[in-house]
Amino acid sequence: MPFINYKNADKKFEVPNESNILRVSLRYEGDLPNRCGGGYCGTCLVKIEEGAENVDKIKPAEVKKLGEELLEQGYRLGCQSFITGDVTVSWDDALTKEVQRRKVKVNK
Ligand code: FES
Repeated sequence: MPFINYKNADKKFEVPNESNILRVSLRYEGDLPNRCGGGYCGTCLVKIEEGAENVDKIKPAEVKKLGEELLEQGYRLGCQSFITGDVTVSWDDALTKEVQRRKVKVNK
């Protein structure tokens, strides 16, 4: 079974395959900040420090909220991301605040 390492909290958990990064944090107190759980607020922003290849595909909500630049730098939304192998994540409060303030464009 894969491991998720929450670097800021210095906590590492062995979890079932295809576990969600935010849900594991909520269940085992990985301390990842969160609010909406739905890909809207940006509070669960994480940088995939190790194991980017072990995270499932980028979701449309992440493209809208993060944009290409942050995605290319290895950032993901924890609530939208599921793992298939060992992963280490970290987060940065200042960057999270900046992303939270971004308005998501709604196509009408
Ligand atoms: S908790 Fe709001 S985007 Fe993940």
